Amino acid sequence: MMPIGPLMIEHRLIERMIRLLKQQLEKVGRQKKADPVFLDVAVDFIKNYADRCHHGKEEDILFRDLAKKGLSDEHRAIIEELLDEHDRARKATKSLLDGKERYLMGDTAALNDIVDAITWLVSFYPIHIEKEDRQFFLPVMSYFTKQEQDAMLQEFYEFDRNLIHATYRGIIERMERT
Ligand SMILES: [Fe+2]
Ligand SMILES: [Fe+2]
Repeated sequence: MMPIGPLMIEHRLIERMIRLLKQQLEKVGRQKKADPVFLDVAVDFIKNYADRCHHGKEEDILFRDLAKKGLSDEHRAIIEELLDEHDRARKATKSLLDGKERYLMGDTAALNDIVDAITWLVSFYPIHIEKEDRQFFLPVMSYFTKQEQDAMLQEFYEFDRNLIHATYRGIIERMERT
């Protein structure tokens, strides 16, 4: 498998979360309240899976290795755009997380911020994912030899393996502190 295989598989799961977020938006519109359990799980997914695990592999491994290649102006420009989009997604995720925290503390006005953040995320992700899937991932693989691609795939697996242990170590450390 090419290293973009796991990244594209991750895109498909992110799309399923986007569908769930859209359903949540409709529900909030009807009921004027959010489901706190859903919000908790959705924030965790976007923060840890979509950002830390998925954007993490893109930025820390794929983009890092691409930066060592003699890239075309077009590909260099797309990487800049993608990095900027990841940044904006992080800001939206942060505002969803803050909104969720306030909402769970009983601040019903935070519902507006939650709706804004989810609305932004559901319009952002499909466009970002399509750009990577259709214009970027496959063409940039041609900068790498088969050996480099195999090494990258291996590093992706290593990244995921480290991440799950770091995540749960973090959970225990936070619980120990409180
Ligand atoms: Fe991305
Ligand atoms: Fe992606």
